[in-house]
Amino acid sequence: MCGIFGVIGSREVSPLIIDGLRKLEYRGYDSAGLATIQKSNNKKFGELFTRKSKGKLINLSNLIKEKPIQGHLGIGHTRWATHGKPNEKNAHPHVDFTGQIAVVQNGIIENYRDLSKSLQPKGITLISETDTEVVPHLIGLEIENFLDKGHSDNGQILLSAVQKVLSLLEGTYSLAVIWSKAPDALVVARRQAPLVIGFGEGEFFCASDTPALVGFTRTFLPLKDHEVALLTPLGIELYDASGTRQHRAPSLLKGTELFADKRNFRHFMLKEIYEQPETAQLWIDRYLPSDSSSVNSFISPITKSTIDKIEQIQILACGTSRHAAMVGAYLLEQFAGVPTNVHFASEFRYSPPPVSPNTLTIGVSQSGETADTLAAIRMEKDRRDSINDPNFSFHQLGITNRLDSSLAREIDNVIDIGSGIEIGVAATKTFLGQMLSFYGLTLLFASHKQKRSTQEILNLSNDLRLIPKQLLDLIKKHDEFSKEIAHMFVDTKDVIFLGRGINYPIALEGALKLKEISYIHAQGYPAGELKHGPIALLDQNVPVLSIAVPGLVYEKVLSNSQEAKARDARLIGVAPSGPESEMFDHLFAIPQVSEWVSPLLTVVPLQLFSYHIAAHKGFDVDQPRNLAKIVTVE
Ligand code: G6P
Repeated sequence: MCGIFGVIGSREVSPLIIDGLRKLEYRGYDSAGLATIQKSNNKKFGELFTRKSKGKLINLSNLIKEKPIQGHLGIGHTRWATHGKPNEKNAHPHVDFTGQIAVVQNGIIENYRDLSKSLQPKGITLISETDTEVVPHLIGLEIENFLDKGHSDNGQILLSAVQKVLSLLEGTYSLAVIWSKAPDALVVARRQAPLVIGFGEGEFFCASDTPALVGFTRTFLPLKDHEVALLTPLGIELYDASGTRQHRAPSLLKGTELFADKRNFRHFMLKEIYEQPETAQLWIDRYLPSDSSSVNSFISPITKSTIDKIEQIQILACGTSRHAAMVGAYLLEQFAGVPTNVHFASEFRYSPPPVSPNTLTIGVSQSGETADTLAAIRMEKDRRDSINDPNFSFHQLGITNRLDSSLAREIDNVIDIGSGIEIGVAATKTFLGQMLSFYGLTLLFASHKQKRSTQEILNLSNDLRLIPKQLLDLIKKHDEFSKEIAHMFVDTKDVIFLGRGINYPIALEGALKLKEISYIHAQGYPAGELKHGPIALLDQNVPVLSIAVPGLVYEKVLSNSQEAKARDARLIGVAPSGPESEMFDHLFAIPQVSEWVSPLLTVVPLQLFSYHIAAHKGFDVDQPRNLAKIVTVE
């Protein structure tokens, strides 16, 4: 949520910052801005320049072409509004009352109202409606104090002033600060919102996420919570919350080289849908190699002794990750026999169930940075640590696409879904990767706990190995078909998605995709619930999409679909072709597969259906309105 990018070095920074922000735009794109410091002739001081614009980064980029600003030090920001409308006034960077200090921030300063009141007696009034603006003013006041006391190294003064102000701030944030009187200093800080430092040649960077560093440097250092760093053209100084100097070796970027390559696709989302067979194949090669005859071939980060202890599982996640978790919960309970609950991470934080013994807590987050998911996991760890009983210990597992994320750093055992970077805000291939991870866990628990016969486990493994090829065929077939029928639904206002059992979460995911990118109201329901309310909505203007896969609930879903048809609803089916499927007005035919693996396939037509409706309407599929790919605020 919001992207920060900053540079200090010897090159003109404006184009570098625009380039960095472009790779962070998935974090927010309602307005953008940048500030630079251009050195004066004596090189000791400089002058602060800012440019801001409403809307996407392209507007800022055009503005800078019209009205360029120079400098070898600068910070930029792409915003997802929390406090104050997305307009130029509220766009970052925010500047202090002296006009010399600029700040960009990601996160929320929760006590900004109290802090702004404390500024009033000093004659400082805020210009924007943001929580951020108090920060530069407070830093400005602290700097005045330091100058009064005769300090002379302006870089160190800026650092000390920021450290002082951080102790006043409540909330979660990362920020970057520059001061025109310290043209060789960039100060950055982090508290529960991501920030990394990039090490270039004679230049240093700060960024909200590592992909922004691609093309500049491969060497980076993630800041830890409560750390502050001073970046100069000569090096960095890193401090913890107590002001003690820290020394840590940087890491090397891996696997982000493919960033931002749309190939020949019109949108990243379509490209990412097409990458799913590869995601599945890579996952199978890595975790379920075909040369292995062992049913235990799923390579797990959790030890056998931990698995033996686990009596139940709780999963914490948000959005699409929660839907993958629901498929996982179905598998873990129904196939592997382990009682499993899925929680909205945002609700779990404030209404957790009573602590249960011998429980595995799984956090699922493609980005590994979702604030609610991280906070829920931390809270669960704290409450378990406070109980002095080994039966209540915190057994943890993370499922993420980002091994460099906070989730991966904070959780000891992590499954890397390895889907490759995903740019489209609406998750597709990472959803598939998350579901596959749950299939792996299911095989693992089912075999260790001996809940299924060897044959059943082998059957599931073999069915999974067929998925990449089936995905390939399905995508080719339904890309064209979705495009053909999309125009019939562009004026639709509401769509009901029905599924049951293991495909109920897919109905939820299909509805979420349609809402996210085409702005059509859509609800997913367990098909049996249709008659308990939603059926009142149905007429010829409300299409119903049913996921009907032969198995436990096939006939039931077909009957529920008939009930919709009897109310004049247009029926769209995701089902194998056959006499039963003739009831559907439009059919996304899927192969005859075991119900267990069906969600890996049934989701694909729904992704393509949403994509083509949104593309047909001319919407910005990759950056839908009001959304962001990473949500680092509560
Ligand atoms: C945001 C995104 C969703 C995503 C959710 C959880 O709301 O727009 O697409 O599913 O966050 O994200 P995570 O990174 O934790 O999977």
